[in-house]
Formats: sequence, C-alpha cells, structure tokens
Amino acid sequence: MFVWFFFSFLILGKFLAKVALNLAVKNTQDYDTLLELIFVYDGGDVKNCQMVGRLSNFLKKKKTSSFNNITIVNFYEVDSPSYLIGNDWSKVSVFSKYKAILTSRNQQTTGELFDASDRGAAYTWICSDCNNFYWTILKFHKSTTTISKAYIELRSLSPTHNTSTLLNYSVSTTLERNFPQLIPSRMFTMINHHSGIAVTLDTSVTKSSTQKWLKPFDGRRGVIFSPSIWDSKTSPSFSFQFEDDDQKFMFGVNVNDVRIATAGDSLTIKTGPTASNNFSYKEFVSDHTEFRTRRESKGNFMQISYEGWDRRSMAIVSFDMKKINCGNAYDLFRLFFFLLFWLCYK
Ligand SMILES: *[C@@H]1O[C@H](CO)[C@@H](O)[C@H](O)[C@H]1NC(C)=O
Ligand SMILES: *[C@@H]1O[C@H](CO)[C@@H](O)[C@H](O)[C@H]1NC(C)=O
Ligand SMILES: *[C@@H]1O[C@H](CO)[C@@H](O)[C@H](O)[C@H]1NC(C)=O
Ligand SMILES: *[C@@H]1O[C@H](CO)[C@@H](O)[C@H](O)[C@H]1NC(C)=O
Repeated sequence: MFVWFFFSFLILGKFLAKVALNLAVKNTQDYDTLLELIFVYDGGDVKNCQMVGRLSNFLKKKKTSSFNNITIVNFYEVDSPSYLIGNDWSKVSVFSKYKAILTSRNQQTTGELFDASDRGAAYTWICSDCNNFYWTILKFHKSTTTISKAYIELRSLSPTHNTSTLLNYSVSTTLERNFPQLIPSRMFTMINHHSGIAVTLDTSVTKSSTQKWLKPFDGRRGVIFSPSIWDSKTSPSFSFQFEDDDQKFMFGVNVNDVRIATAGDSLTIKTGPTASNNFSYKEFVSDHTEFRTRRESKGNFMQISYEGWDRRSMAIVSFDMKKINCGNAYDLFRLFFFLLFWLCYK
C-alpha cells in the first residue's frame, strides 16, 4: 500500500497480486489537471513494460494493473495536490465499492455513504497534514437502512493492511452519545453495511475542538486508543482529561486491552473531584496487573493516560459517564416536604 502526492518516478512492489489505484482529491478541488501529465506503466520495468497511458485515463477506465507492480512516472516534476492510493486488488474487490477521501487539517468533511450489501462499501479517509480525526456525526437514514442488519466498521489504515475492526456502530437510540469520537490517525477505513448514512469528520486542530472531545455529558460513551493501534509507526502515548468543574459525573472505565512491552511504561486512570486530592487512582505498570475489572467513581474529572515509547506497547480503554443530579432532586424533594409540613401544621 502506498500513499503519496509528490511523485517523479516510482516503482511499487510488495503487492500480492494486481494493484488497484484510487485517486483521492480534496473536496475543495474538482479535478486535478496535473494527472494528465503523469504516466502509468503496467509493470515494474519502464523500458520493457507497456505504457498504458496518462494517469487521468487509467483512473477513468482500468484502475488495476496486470501484474503485482505498476510504475508511475512524472516527467515534469510538478506537485499534484491529489493523493493516489494503491491497494491489493484482491483486498478491495471484496467490497461492493471502494473510494478514498482526502482531507486536511481544520476541515469538516461531510459524507453521504450508501451500501445495500453485506460486503459493504469501504472508504479510506486520509488527512494530508494532521494525525487526528474527530468523528462528530453518524446518522442512519431510515429510508435507505435495513435497521436489523446495518453496521459501520472502522479499521486502521487501508484494506491492504488487512487490519481488524476497532470501532463498530449499529442503529440504536443512544447512538449519538458515542460522538465525538477521536480517531488518532492520519488514515483509516470506514465500511458501511446495509445502510445509508451521513457522517461528519472534523480535522480541527484548534483548542475548541479538543475541548469538545474532552467535555463530559450525560450518557456519553467512547473509546481511547493508543495511536500505535491505528498506525504501528506512531507512539502508544496519550493523555486526556475529561473535566467539568460545575457538574459531577459517575465515570466508568473499562480497560479493554493493554500491552506494556517495556518496564517504565504505564497506564494511569484517575477520576474524582477536582477540588481535593481525594481521587481514585490506578496505575498499571505491567500486563500482569489485574486490569480487566471495571472501575467506577464519582467526580468532576477523569484522566486517562498512557506513558511510554515502545511501539509494541498499547492500550485500549473504553469509558462512559452519567451525570449525578440526585443532589438537586433531593433538595427539591426536601423543599416539597417542608412546604407540606408547614401547610399541614400551620
Ligand atoms: C513486475 O511484475 C512482473 C510480472 O509479475 C515481473 O516479471 C517483474 O519482474 C516485476 N518487476 C519488479 C521490479 O518487481
Ligand atoms: C486477513 O485477516 C483475516 C482475519 O483477521 C485472516 O483470517 C486472513 O488470513 C488475513 N489475510 C491475509 C492475507 O493476511
Ligand atoms: C459489528 O456489528 C455487527 C452488528 O452488531 C455485527 O454483525 C458484526 O459482526 C460486527 N463486526 C465486528 C467485526 O465485530
Ligand atoms: C475521600 O475518600 C474516602 C475513601 O474513599 C472517603 O471515605 C471519603 O468520604 C472521601 N472524602 C470526600 C470529601 O469525598
């Protein structure tokens, strides 16, 4: 698999069989005329293999190579703003449809995706200059969704990497409480089955989008991943503090998986009132520590962090939060009884 945007001369190898090429252009861009200046050779040897024509035509008609290698030549050394993504044809042909979507930092990308099959339609999302996507909206359209069969999977990287599903959503009344969901990667693949959906992904790197992700709300659920789970070339570290000083929550934390490959690495979970140091605290320093038990505690904040640099390390932690408002209800209740008492005995 490869992704790049400046190419002058490139031979691509390591594909199992045929190579499928897909173009990803930014949604702000209609058509990339530079594709007409780039040439495609069917094979790994430019001198002897067949020149099949301009990239623009190749993408319109053929899209797949005859062998497990393909050569792209740009004689003009001009920069194209588009990305070309190469996949093993055998990995993308299992889907009813395959597309690549390119975006960049500080964009909100909205997509209407549809697929009626169980094979699913796959979309590889790529950010050219950022490493985070905030998934903010997922809506199933009733008219184009088979509710009992519909689900949306997210896998890391592209189909060629043959990765497993990391997030999976189906129709439910509480679906919207799963968003925003952070995807700490510059690339991932979304597969929709038996559904018509509207999605919005935000690549803002501003403080306000980070604050939205870190804001607790009643009923909220989410998953925190080491970036290395999405892309093995990145670090396993992360640190997030969800906090609301005005409201109390019951925070629930489940460690779904943790691998601590090096001594000194650690996963820390803290929850509690911000006002005092009376928080609940748990630090995992090795895989052998008992971590599978669910942890729950009340407070204004929940901090989940992983410290470490070993790329074999990782953590997947899911969380949920429930607003605690019984204090207010109790006060009203007391007031009610006080009034009742006062009226009766007056
Ligand atoms: C490209 O594929 C063809 C056919 O499989 C093979 O003969 C050739 O050696 C390959 N070239 C490279 C550079 O891998
Ligand atoms: C792809 O992944 C699936 C399931 O994880 C596995 O059964 C299959 O063998 C993998 N295919 C390849 C070519 O690695
Ligand atoms: C995702 O969820 C759907 C529906 O709940 C289920 O059928 C499917 O097997 C799940 N996929 C994975 C990879 O867990
Ligand atoms: C502090 O924590 C202890 C032990 O969990 C608990 O008994 C006590 O009530 C807590 N104090 C406050 C002010 O929350």
